[in-house]
Amino acid sequence: MPFEIIRADITHLKVDGIVNAANETLLGGGGVDGAIHKAAGPELLEACKKLGGCQTGEAKLTRGYNLPARYVIHTVGPVWRGGDQGEEEQLRACYTNALEIAHAKNMESLAFPLISTGIFGYPKDLALKIAISVIGDFLMQHELVIYLVVYDHGAFALSEKLFNTVKAYIDDHYIEENFESIRMESHYQKSVAYESEMPYPKSIIDEATHKPSKPSSAVQRRLKNMLKELEETFSEHLLRLIDIKGKSDVEVYKKANIDRKLFSKIRGDKDYKPSKSTALAFAIALELNLDETKDLLKKAGFALSNSSKFDLIISYFITESTYNIFEINETLFAFEQPLLGINK
Ligand code: APR
Repeated sequence: MPFEIIRADITHLKVDGIVNAANETLLGGGGVDGAIHKAAGPELLEACKKLGGCQTGEAKLTRGYNLPARYVIHTVGPVWRGGDQGEEEQLRACYTNALEIAHAKNMESLAFPLISTGIFGYPKDLALKIAISVIGDFLMQHELVIYLVVYDHGAFALSEKLFNTVKAYIDDHYIEENFESIRMESHYQKSVAYESEMPYPKSIIDEATHKPSKPSSAVQRRLKNMLKELEETFSEHLLRLIDIKGKSDVEVYKKANIDRKLFSKIRGDKDYKPSKSTALAFAIALELNLDETKDLLKKAGFALSNSSKFDLIISYFITESTYNIFEINETLFAFEQPLLGINK
């Protein structure tokens, strides 16, 4: 999964690079800056002294020294002054410049803290949106595994409004596991009863004679297509949807936050069985509606359930036609649910 939001101490991560939320002197400080210098050891400070400081929005590279990470990219976020002093552009520049250094160094993995959201006071939900939009745009053009590290869950602030809207949706639709299975059972009994009265689809019953007439060639073709679709595997169905939606493979797997290797596995094996999260990630990338999503899930052997918060959050975003997988993952993370696009 190219982009993950995780709860961790960034100094513990064994990645190619970690980003430091520093100040313009680059001589260390509190927060994540202090933690990184402490874990990297005194050589980091010696290296930083040679950099001659760093402007707000800029980024500079050093080695990681005693850190498990190979490199540290030091960037200086803006101090929050109410939002009308160019803070957003400066914060965007921090992420963009850090990503450019990582790309230039051919890093394969990079971890960001939520820059400026501690001592510099940037509102967390605004900062999160900026981080997600810059990282999301970058990943549409590049291959890099990126972690957005949230140090403590409290520090993670989904916008109040979005959190409450999703929570209300869950409360409205969530039903306990056992009640759900009883409800599904009775629905199934009803539908089986209905089927036995109607041996043929209504459209080919000859009203005059009240007995099924021989289906016309058009109906035969439609039935044949329906049967063909029923026999399609998940992979065949997915590839057909990509064609129907007129999208490219790259665009779809990047929007699904799925890496290239997994996608080629799915493309190469018509019987490939994805995880539910991967199947849903493709439904989001293809911007399927709820019924189309259920069809795609069914091909992988899954169904949406009202007794799963994860499923309800996905259903909420599909119902709202909001298909930004990074925004959805932000919400899943806030509700302590697994994220979309897990590579399985
Ligand atoms: N791992 C991951 N994230 C961390 C860690 C850690 N070990 N420690 C703190 N954080 C998080 C904070 O919870 C916050 O969300 O990093 C985010 C950024 O907070 P700060 O470290 O306070 O950085 P910032 O708000 O950008 O202020 C920068 O603080 O440390 C000084 O020298 C630094 O003057 C500069 C200022």
